[in-house]
This record gives sequence, C-alpha cells and structure tokens, in this order.
Amino acid sequence: MKFKTIEWKGNRVRLLDQRRLPQEVHYLDCKDASSVAQAIRTMAIRGAPAIGVAAAMGIALAAKKIQSHRPEVFRKSIERVCQQMRQTRPTAANLFWAVDRMEKILGHARSLNVEEMKARLEEEALRIYEEDVEVNRKIGEHGKILIQDGDGVLTHCNAGALATAGWGTALGVIHAAWAEGKRFSVFVDETRPLLQGARLTAWELVQEKIPATVITDSMAGWLMRKGEIALVLVGADRIARNGDTANKIGTYSIAVLSKWHNIPFYVAAPTSTLDLTLASGSDIPIEERAPEELTHFQGRRITPKGIKTFNPAFDVTPHSLIEAIITEKGIVRKPFERGLRRIKTE
Ligand code: MRU
Repeated sequence: MKFKTIEWKGNRVRLLDQRRLPQEVHYLDCKDASSVAQAIRTMAIRGAPAIGVAAAMGIALAAKKIQSHRPEVFRKSIERVCQQMRQTRPTAANLFWAVDRMEKILGHARSLNVEEMKARLEEEALRIYEEDVEVNRKIGEHGKILIQDGDGVLTHCNAGALATAGWGTALGVIHAAWAEGKRFSVFVDETRPLLQGARLTAWELVQEKIPATVITDSMAGWLMRKGEIALVLVGADRIARNGDTANKIGTYSIAVLSKWHNIPFYVAAPTSTLDLTLASGSDIPIEERAPEELTHFQGRRITPKGIKTFNPAFDVTPHSLIEAIITEKGIVRKPFERGLRRIKTE
C-alpha cells in the first residue's frame, strides 16, 4: 500500500486526513487524545475498524502524557479518556469494542505501577492495529471465492484500506480475488452526502489498478436491471445477533434492489463489528450528522435557507436481504444467529 491510514509514532498518532482526499494527501499529527477524538468526530479518520484503532491509539497516547505516578489518579484519567472516545461516534461497534479492550487492560493491571500500565496500554493498541491487518487478510481469503471472472461487483461507501488498518473488508475481498488473477470490474456508488465512494474507494481502486466505475447512488437499480451487477459487497458498522446490519446510509436501498433483481448481497466484516448484545437492528443507535452535510457542498450552500433536513449517517439492512456475512473466521450463512454466536465465541 502506498499510504498509511493510521500510524503509531510513539509520542503522536499520524492519520491520513480523509476529508482532503483525493485532492490532497495530507497527514495529520495528533499529539493528544482530544485531537484523536476530534479527528474521529470530524471524519478525518472513519470506517468502523479504523475508528476502533484510532480510539485505542488515542487512549495509549493519553496514558503516555499522564504525569502522575499514582495508579488511582492514572486509572481515573484513562477512564475519562475512554468515555471521551466512546462519545465520538455512536454506530460503529468496533469503537466500543476497542475502547472496552483498552479499559480491560487497566482492570487486569491492578498490581502494576503507572509506567507498566502505560506500556501495557501501548502494547494493546498496537495489538488491535496488527490484528486488524491480519483479520482483513483472512476476510479477503474467505470471500474471494464469491467473485468470478467477468463479474460486475457493486460496492457502497468505503470499506477499504482507508477504513481499516489493512486492505479493508469489502475491498479486501476484491483485492484478494484480483491478486489471485480473477478479472472483473467494480462499480462504486458515490455515496452521498460525504462521497466516501467517489472520493475514497475510487482513489484506492485507481491505485490498485482494478477497473472501477463511479456511479451516483441512484444509478445502481438501472445497472442491475441491465444485468451489469453480479454481486454486491459492502462493509458494516454494527451487526446485531440476527444478522441485521448497520452500514452507510443507502446500503438498505441497494439491498432491496438486489433482492428484486435476484443478485446476492454480501456483507464483509470482522467479528469485532458483531454486537451480540442486540437482538435486532432496531436496537442499533443510528448517528445523525450536521445538516450542513446536506445543505452545503464544498463549503457552498446548495439548498435554500430555511429548508429542513434529515441526515442519518447509517441505515439498517434486515438480515432477510443478506445472502451471507464474510468474516475472518469464515462465511456465515442463514440462520445467522446460530452462525454468528459460534464464530464470536470461537
Ligand atoms: O461514516 P463512515 O464513513 O465512517 O461510514 C463507514 C461505513 O459505513 C463503512 O462501510 C463501514 O464502517 C465498514 S468499513 C470497513
């Protein structure tokens, strides 16, 4: 990969600022936990697994900067930072999963002094990063059999290297199939309103030299009707135990269209995206973002003043519309609840 989405630099966290892509490759150096939290909130870094990694590194960074040698003071400060990270974005399960892992380290380190706790937290953040690289690779290996020569693959949002520590989830599958010598093409939904498809997925695929075509979100149905799409591959932000899946707004519409046209709709996600505490997708918190994302484009107003807006960042695709969920532990098919429980505890 020619770029690094996120990097631990010892005394800072370096992020590729995704708000500026593809025009500018600009790295952001976060020197404290608050600037990492701000980067997550403002989507300088985004994508469920990458958000988890960033939060973990932000916590490790905060730990390094604490001056007190009193374990109780140290613990309290880290707990506050964990809370701050949890409040950045509400939907991605990986964020809460990563913060919980960091907090657990504190719980296991009761007998350690502050310097030892700092080292443990740094190790855990790096482990979360490295595991994600490996998990992406495995998702790709499991999923690549689903793509055949000559296929048109539709994807939505960005579930690639920019959204993870490795090759990505949905794009990881595409990458693995391509690396194996399969030849196919990808259709990339632009993904309104923040254009993660047109800006980010397109940028990655151009670099990988995988043939890709950007379309507006509203063109997907017509392409399906014309027989251009063999399968749909998307990522996930949170998957409930019945398989209902929250992902970028617009995913649900594509899933409905896929059903109508008899096209398999696949979700690729690590087990860290599974939230088995939730019975169904109706319990998944859906982030609503600022109206300006709709009323303005590149800083310029595009709607009349006084108009109302509705800007949910995610929607939930019911499990009945999903053909299979590709994870690092294999492909899970219906009934999802049994399969997801098995792989989560494996
Ligand atoms: O709002 P975003 O850009 O963070 O939303 C990202 C998505 O919806 C991705 O599809 C999802 O996080 C999976 S990334 C591997």
